Amino acid sequence: MKPRPGSVSVIGMGYVGLCTSAAFASKGIRTVGIDIDEKRIDLIQQGRAPLYEPQLDSMLKKAVTKKLLTATNDISHATDTSLTFLTVGTPSRKDGSIDLTNIERATEELGTALREKQSYHLVIVKSTVIPGTTNKTVNPILAKSSSKTIGTSVGLCANPEFLKEGTAISDTLHPDKIVIGANDKKSANTLKQLYRRFYGKNLPTVILTSPETAELVKYASNAFLATKVSFINTIANIAQSIPGVDVNQVAEAIGRDPRIGSLFLKAGPGYGGSCFHKDLQALINFSEDLSYSPILLRATEGTNEQQAEKVVELVEKLTGPLDQKRIAVLGLAFKKDTDDIREAASLRVITLLLKKGAQVIAYDPLAIPNARKQLGETVEFAKDEHSALKGADCCIVMTEWSQFEKLQTKDYLALMGTPNLVDARRLYNPNEYGALNFAAVGFGTQQQ
Ligand SMILES: NC(=O)c1ccc[n+]([C@@H]2O[C@H](COP(=O)([O-])OP(=O)(O)OC[C@H]3O[C@@H](n4cnc5c(N)ncnc54)[C@H](O)[C@@H]3O)[C@@H](O)[C@H]2O)c1
Repeated sequence: MKPRPGSVSVIGMGYVGLCTSAAFASKGIRTVGIDIDEKRIDLIQQGRAPLYEPQLDSMLKKAVTKKLLTATNDISHATDTSLTFLTVGTPSRKDGSIDLTNIERATEELGTALREKQSYHLVIVKSTVIPGTTNKTVNPILAKSSSKTIGTSVGLCANPEFLKEGTAISDTLHPDKIVIGANDKKSANTLKQLYRRFYGKNLPTVILTSPETAELVKYASNAFLATKVSFINTIANIAQSIPGVDVNQVAEAIGRDPRIGSLFLKAGPGYGGSCFHKDLQALINFSEDLSYSPILLRATEGTNEQQAEKVVELVEKLTGPLDQKRIAVLGLAFKKDTDDIREAASLRVITLLLKKGAQVIAYDPLAIPNARKQLGETVEFAKDEHSALKGADCCIVMTEWSQFEKLQTKDYLALMGTPNLVDARRLYNPNEYGALNFAAVGFGTQQQ
């Protein structure tokens, strides 16, 4: 490959890296996607996305056909580009602390590849990393492996990502801000220039900070959103015991106060996804290393963990003891429009159901292949929502897929053994499901 000034490389072709790469390419910016997973690279080279994200497939196909996006497992191709984003995974260790192995390995390999490069190269840490990682981990590894001085021939920035799975492409095209953490002006300006090319006159507000501040912004953002979810679930659990109270109306009313805001105030089975739990655990662990115990963040996590039990309690209220009961679980993905089941509330609920001796039959429009890897033979997988409901003693709606919204009272009545329905996602208007034995998170009914 020939050196292409102004082109970009992205190391780690997961949700963040692949969506970012496809978006860059869609604006005519030549992008090289790099990953150690050969299967993933093979698929991307064919213009096929290895994961589901709305708009991604068509964007990727166009980008690959036009040769604006190429994919490889050879990291040396990063040197043909001017800037490299690190978007590798940053999972949790057993104790909740962040595991930086992927970042360290990718940095070292990139640095080694950059040794012979004559011109300036900017390295951007886009993965979520605890404050201090860019300066204390990435910087020394990069300096040693590249034998270059960071800040002069190799630039370094922290540039956290705020996209949401399910709307990743649209979030990348229309972010509410860009945060750039840099130690030197050249690094910050080079990255800002790339974003100026990408967004043109629609460049969002760019907030320039130190790398440590940028890194903390990402954790603060996820911790706040997770806390909002646990807050409304706390109110939901109180509302549930007060006949005539509906948490959705409480949320609507308080959400109108601009100091509170309406987003992330939807009561449900608890948050999931690859980031909230992992990032809260990393932040708690990091805070403790600083000798500060973040009680609020622990409570957010504790409330979330407990929420699965609240869903199962609702089921038991309708069905009695769960032993040998056939429970249909509609939805496995942690939210709609994704096939991602990482930390999904459905998994916590299914684990509890199985512990109590229930037989679980599950259906999800996209996430069954991923769920099968994790749940194996412990649950039955249905071919659609209708067959999942057949003969079931209770159905729990765990993901807010639009197609589940279309199920009406008559469908539940016709298919189920006993028409017990637990709406863990508040997908349905309770008034329209009165013919069923209906329970919903945060919907107060007479205590039995
Ligand atoms: N998924 C999200 O919604 C989201 C949003 C914002 C930020 N983030 C953060 O972005 C980072 C990436 O998240 P993701 O969900 O895209 O992860 P992911 O698990 O979907 O993908 C990570 C990719 O990195 C690859 N990889 C790992 N080590 C590598 C190496 N040494 N060289 C090349 N490739 C390597 C893996 O094979 C995988 O394809 C994480 O730090 C995450 O916290 C994620």
